[in-house]
Amino acid sequence: MTKYPRVTVRALQAMQNAGEKITMLATYDYFTAKVLDASGVDLLLVGDTLGMAFGGKETTLSVLLDHVVYHAEIVSRAAERAMVIGDMPFLTYQVNPDQAVANAGRLMQESHVHGVKLEGGRSMIPVVKRILQAGIPVMGHLGLTPQSVHRFGGFSVQGKDPESAARLKQAARALEEAGCFAIVLEAVPADLGDEVTRLLSIPTIGIGAGPSCGGQVLVASDMLGLTGFKAKYLRPYADVGETIRQAAASFVRDVKDGTFPSHEESYHS
Ligand code: KIV
Repeated sequence: MTKYPRVTVRALQAMQNAGEKITMLATYDYFTAKVLDASGVDLLLVGDTLGMAFGGKETTLSVLLDHVVYHAEIVSRAAERAMVIGDMPFLTYQVNPDQAVANAGRLMQESHVHGVKLEGGRSMIPVVKRILQAGIPVMGHLGLTPQSVHRFGGFSVQGKDPESAARLKQAARALEEAGCFAIVLEAVPADLGDEVTRLLSIPTIGIGAGPSCGGQVLVASDMLGLTGFKAKYLRPYADVGETIRQAAASFVRDVKDGTFPSHEESYHS
């Protein structure tokens, strides 16, 4: 029996205070979410990686709020223990704080998520505050923020020079002060991940941000070997793609050679 039968913002902070690492996996469908929830993962993120790791696109930019609402409702229904976070897609929170709170509220009301995540630093503070005023927990996201891929000129490691590292640290502090309950740190040098983590009392959840972060997040279908995605930080925990290929090839072979379905696999009058 886990110490936290249902993960909440308070449980996450208690883990952080006790030095217990936090785990988060991004997922988009009911049956995977059910298995992941049973594994003991603390947070399930319905990320806008939906566009890439589920939809096979090059970026997250074409993901719409309706898409996340649909998938987040499915994942929320599957999760019995994990806290479920809905990602705010591109342009659903950057236009103005009122629109942002309406969109975050929609995710909570229609998808039953327990919190939302949004990308960006100090310019997002009014948005974060407005969403929090509505009682919706907010997770920040700094470093390689994929919705800015074209501004970065690619999916590249961030915070490598002193100026951008300093900006990132200031942004992390500002997000904590504004009331974020955690911050995703994506693709930054491990020593910067360590510095930011030590600056904050809320947890940092790293993805390519080194081992010091308060927790780690991966996209489930990437770590399961389904997407073929490769990155320095990605540990391949399974080769589900190969398992599926072999199973499907066996099905094709059995149908072609007439051994499927068998007498036992057929109905009889
Ligand atoms: O959208 C997503 O899945 C994410 C994680 C990679 C942190 O933002």
